[in-house]
Amino acid sequence: MPVSFRSRPALAAEAGIPPPTPRRSFRQQWWDLGLGLIALLGGCRQGPAPSAEPISLGVYSGRHYNTDQALYRRFTEQTGIQVKLLEGKDDALIERVRTEGARTPADLLVLVDAARLVRAADQGLFQPLNSEAIRRDVPPELRDSAGRWSALTRRVRVVVVNPKQVDPALIRTYADLARPELKGRLCLRNGRSVYNQSLVADQLILRGEAETRRWLSGLIANLKPPFFSSDTTLARAVARGECGVGVVNSYYVARMLSGDGGAEDKALMQGVKVVVPDPAHINVSGAGVTRHSRHPEAARKLLEFLASPEGGGAGYAQANHEYPLVGSGNDPVVKGFGPLRGDGVPIEQLGARNGQAVELMRAAGWP
Ligand SMILES: [Fe+2]
Repeated sequence: MPVSFRSRPALAAEAGIPPPTPRRSFRQQWWDLGLGLIALLGGCRQGPAPSAEPISLGVYSGRHYNTDQALYRRFTEQTGIQVKLLEGKDDALIERVRTEGARTPADLLVLVDAARLVRAADQGLFQPLNSEAIRRDVPPELRDSAGRWSALTRRVRVVVVNPKQVDPALIRTYADLARPELKGRLCLRNGRSVYNQSLVADQLILRGEAETRRWLSGLIANLKPPFFSSDTTLARAVARGECGVGVVNSYYVARMLSGDGGAEDKALMQGVKVVVPDPAHINVSGAGVTRHSRHPEAARKLLEFLASPEGGGAGYAQANHEYPLVGSGNDPVVKGFGPLRGDGVPIEQLGARNGQAVELMRAAGWP
């Protein structure tokens, strides 16, 4: 679909970012975004002999974890291909790639949450990968069936329980969150959180609309207000006993338990029990090569590296306490959560059912 450059300033403003200024240099433009540019200029010493002009890939990433940069640096050391990273909010980055159209400096768009990957693909922002390595390294339910994007890491929506408030044995599945024993003890993040929307979409796919509606009214009947605006503050409230039970992404709890967020959070979280529902709702971070990439081959190479056991497992996943694409990885805290059995829902379906999930949440009173 052709991109209308006329509407670009309006669209950029809508996305909450100033529009790029064509007369400025490439580098200045990126700084102007106010999103923070980290240029990783790795050495070409160890890589294969570079051509006269070394390739520099633009990576727009909604992942906001410092640890990712070490992985890009390793890719540069191995290949000689440089990486220029622009980190920002996922939705703003999707909008930016769309409005930049053929002029986008982004070769790879990295996004968090399946629903966003599907949305970017639906908007025609990706090109087909056609990658043998991706087909080999990434289980089919974790990549686009049309081959436009692939997951890189997995995260699980886990239940955190304060055992002083609620018996953790009461909760084995997401359905248990609607048990009447949890009345007034369940804390939730707001319904605008795409993580919760994907959880509801997941339940819709597994259990159908009628049962999901019943489940949602059960959750809201158990609610202890207010709705939280972040997984981390929600996990802290459970740890402090302000809530009995909460639903959060696995890596936030793992980060706190690992001491990444400081000794205070680490100590606070010691008393919390993490329940990985069985089967678990799996979500992902993932990426696709942009439709207008100037270096699609190199971008595909980077994507393959990030999805490989070496990249995704030891790098992207472990550094942020996520699960690799296969297995539970080597992170001791994540392993301590116990076995993980995914529910097998193809993650592209999470995006397809997002709209219906949002409607049901609103109807149930989960704004
Ligand atoms: Fe997150």
